[in-house]
Amino acid sequence: MNKFPHHDIIHSIKEVDTPFYLYDMDLLHTTLVAAKAAADRRGYVIHYAVKANNNHPILAAMRDIGFGTDCVSGNEVARSLEVGFDASMVDFAGIGKTDEEIEVGLDAGIFSFNVESLEEMEVIDELAGKRGKKANVSLRINPNIDAHTHKNITTGLSENKFGLDLTLLPKLVDNIRKFQHVSIKGLHFHIGSQITDLEVFKQLAVKASQLNDYFLNQGFQFEHINLGGGLGVSYHHPTQKRMVDFESFFKIFEENLTLPVGTKVHFELGRSLVAQCGILISKVVYVKAGLSKRFLILDGGMTDLIRPALYQAFHLTENICRDEEAEKYDVVGPICESTDIFGEDVLLSKSYRGDLIAIYTTGAYGQVMSSKYNMRDRAKAYYVSQGKLYSEESYLGE
Ligand code: LLP
Repeated sequence: MNKFPHHDIIHSIKEVDTPFYLYDMDLLHTTLVAAKAAADRRGYVIHYAVKANNNHPILAAMRDIGFGTDCVSGNEVARSLEVGFDASMVDFAGIGKTDEEIEVGLDAGIFSFNVESLEEMEVIDELAGKRGKKANVSLRINPNIDAHTHKNITTGLSENKFGLDLTLLPKLVDNIRKFQHVSIKGLHFHIGSQITDLEVFKQLAVKASQLNDYFLNQGFQFEHINLGGGLGVSYHHPTQKRMVDFESFFKIFEENLTLPVGTKVHFELGRSLVAQCGILISKVVYVKAGLSKRFLILDGGMTDLIRPALYQAFHLTENICRDEEAEKYDVVGPICESTDIFGEDVLLSKSYRGDLIAIYTTGAYGQVMSSKYNMRDRAKAYYVSQGKLYSEESYLGE
């Protein structure tokens, strides 16, 4: 039978409530230890990108290992503080920060607002002034680097809405000195997500260093430089490649960054820290014979995991109840949308009503992007550690 991890545990939950997310907290821990060791070796600081998965046990693991957070909403900033991250380790990016969200960050005195436009800088300056405070800000520069990733998750090209465009830098330099209530501490970059070509990060390191020099020549000496996240994971071989190679990732930066001594280097990793530790488990409701196709209709759908519908993303799918001769299925969800498809012509063990299907690599951008469309309930989360099963409450209570 199957080599699938946590098989018995999953079977103990299945009668209750499929679909559900299952998080392997031991794998998460091993991954975080490896990332931290590779970063520490170079004196680099990691902020966890909360948007990838904001479940409390996951955030607590990030806090306990000593990472900061990277937030894109006032609620993510507030969540980080509630969970116990120090404000000095929280950064806040996003092109549309509202006044209320900025105030959350100002009141807490966060590490950095990653500012994406001059218009935003003006508002932060004004709000900080009203509070008699000085806001720490970094300039998010759009370095115009092609991340060679899916067009919907690339952010570092000029035509993207993110960051300050390179052509605007002279204007920026002329203008930013007038802001009295901001303290410009650093530069920030994030060029996209699920980047698997490390050459792209080399280009980023070189460009970021050049831009740092440019600002230095204009009289700006930055305390830190933040290179964002984006490191991709293996969606095709999740059981063989359970962890990404953090060492090679950080080494690229070590070899290609040329920054003044003492500049602190920060990263904002999301997917690479949490993607492989999560699996979505769903039950076969019907095996439906079509004209020429066979549909495996699951009780989980795009409301639980939207990545296939939104980005045509591939997630490895496996029947964890049996290991019979493989057959081809279109694996689909029950939602009234034609794009509610996990995969077409997927080779799976011959499957039957009631079988459980594992959908891998769903720890990042899975549960967080779920919705209640069609008035569906949201999938629950369970956690496995040292062979024991926990709900969120019981895990945190341990
Ligand atoms: N920093 C910033 C400013 C970001 O916008 C992001 C992700 C990250 C860090 C973390 O990137 P990561 O290490 O996770 O690649 N929903 C999409 C991914 C969207 C990523 C948005 N930004 C997906 O499911 O593929």
